[in-house]
Amino acid sequence: MQRLFSIKVAAPDQAETLAAEPKGATHEGSVLTARGIEKSYRRNLWSPRNRVQVLTGADITLGQGEVVGLVGENGSGKSTLMRILVGDLRADAGTLTRSGLVGYCPQEPLVYPRLTCDEHFELFGHAYGMTTQHERESRAAIYDSLGFERFAETRAERLSGGTLAKLNLGLALLPDPALLLLDEPYAGFDWDTYLKFWDLVDERRVAGRTVLIVSHFVVDEARFDRIVEIRDGKAWPR
Ligand SMILES: Nc1ncnc2c1ncn2[C@@H]1O[C@H](COP(=O)(O)OP(=O)(O)OP(=O)(O)O)[C@@H](O)[C@H]1O
Ligand SMILES: [Mg+2]
Repeated sequence: MQRLFSIKVAAPDQAETLAAEPKGATHEGSVLTARGIEKSYRRNLWSPRNRVQVLTGADITLGQGEVVGLVGENGSGKSTLMRILVGDLRADAGTLTRSGLVGYCPQEPLVYPRLTCDEHFELFGHAYGMTTQHERESRAAIYDSLGFERFAETRAERLSGGTLAKLNLGLALLPDPALLLLDEPYAGFDWDTYLKFWDLVDERRVAGRTVLIVSHFVVDEARFDRIVEIRDGKAWPR
């Protein structure tokens, strides 16, 4: 397990500014505004100046109640941008302003192999600063909507890939965040769970919650309010 407590938990209605932009600089009605995000990685350990530039000035704004698709070819920088937006990775340049609580579902589930699903929810509920009652109610609703309560006492190391993906998504949903950032959340879901997932997203849209979803599925295009494509290191409307 890595990075559990790197989850950024901002108090609701508290604007969090992660760079030079002044507080409250989110655009009218937006929950997240990122401008000029740049990121490069070192290509290998032995040549520190040999860097690969992944993001070259990406701009993205997410409005309240929007469901936005984030697309782009493999390696284009979708996960890199999402990790920067959630605060899990530092940008080289740019500004990021967010308001409200953020839930993040990483592309690779970050779990403790030896902890059960229940124990994960307890731990994350604690990290999110939830009351025990709120955490238990939310956990029960997540088990119910994604259908994996029978694995409540199963350790993460014994879960199937699809059930692990449900746990990964469930942990992001737990605090009912204003903004959900989901990196290919339904890879491995069966058909029924896939449909339940979209019901959940629709409910969030109706409740005025914002969802950004990395997707490779052309068939999902119509489910998004709009689509942003990462290409040549920048974010383009599609
Ligand atoms: N920690 C790292 N160190 C070096 N290079 C990295 C690192 N993480 C990502 N990269 C590189 O940055 C580029 C963008 O990676 P990223 O994971 O953001 O792409 P992606 O669009 O999410 O791809 P996919 O669709 O395959 O998930 C790739 O070329 C990748 O190899
Ligand atoms: Mg990715």
